[in-house]
Amino acid sequence: MKMALGFLTAILIACIASVAYASDPSPLQDFCVSVNDSVAAVFVNGKICKNPNMVVADDFFFPGLNIPGNTSNPLGSRVTTVNVNQLPRVNTLGISVVRIDYAPYGLNPPHTHPRATEVLLVLEGTLYVGFVTSNNADPNKKNKLFTKYLNCGDAFVFPEGLIHLQFNVGHKNAVAFAGLSSQNPGVITIGNAVFGSYPSINQAVLTKAFQVEKNVIDSLQAQFGWIID
Ligand SMILES: *[C@@H]1O[C@H](CO)[C@@H](O)[C@H](O)[C@H]1NC(C)=O
Ligand SMILES: *[C@@H]1O[C@H](CO)[C@@H](O)[C@H](O)[C@H]1NC(C)=O
Repeated sequence: MKMALGFLTAILIACIASVAYASDPSPLQDFCVSVNDSVAAVFVNGKICKNPNMVVADDFFFPGLNIPGNTSNPLGSRVTTVNVNQLPRVNTLGISVVRIDYAPYGLNPPHTHPRATEVLLVLEGTLYVGFVTSNNADPNKKNKLFTKYLNCGDAFVFPEGLIHLQFNVGHKNAVAFAGLSSQNPGVITIGNAVFGSYPSINQAVLTKAFQVEKNVIDSLQAQFGWIID
């Protein structure tokens, strides 16, 4: 009886754990290399599969991640994404990768991935990284910040959906790669989303939400109209 109970508990834990690990649904066949057709009418959850007989090795291949991204922008960072939009093979597989380049003191500003946990691996330089919990994790319902300094060879996990950031604290360039648990993680950069949306969020909403005067909102909205293409 004890053993049976232990066995059941183990199965239960395994079930819970597998739910926690997989963000995107599991594939139902070996692969579903997506068709690159932005106007395709059938859209379920992911992209339409290419005919498996037409699939070639190049569908699984993405070269060029040795090339640094251009960090000449106000933040001094550049994310090169390899998700289902660049690499059709990851369709339905719940995975993607990015390369992130940081100029000296470059910042990947506070942002979240609504559909993915991220594991970041530093290859070059020193990064100050962190994430903020949702309020439920704290007994006082506050948002707790976890931070760490990372050097070459260090990895760090940003749990799904939480606001996180990376800042190059060195006077040299930094490079990191990150794996994400979704074929299409999505990015919500907090400043851009709140102050740079189109149309803009009503100023009466923003002055009240942030408890500041209108001129502060004016200046923030002017800052966040731009995007990094
Ligand atoms: C990098 O981006 C800047 C700003 O957009 C541009 O002026 C510059 O030519 C780019 N450099 C390279 C090597 O593409
Ligand atoms: C998909 O098609 C667009 C537009 O035709 C093109 O710019 C893009 O490079 C294509 N992506 C892939 C992965 O082939």
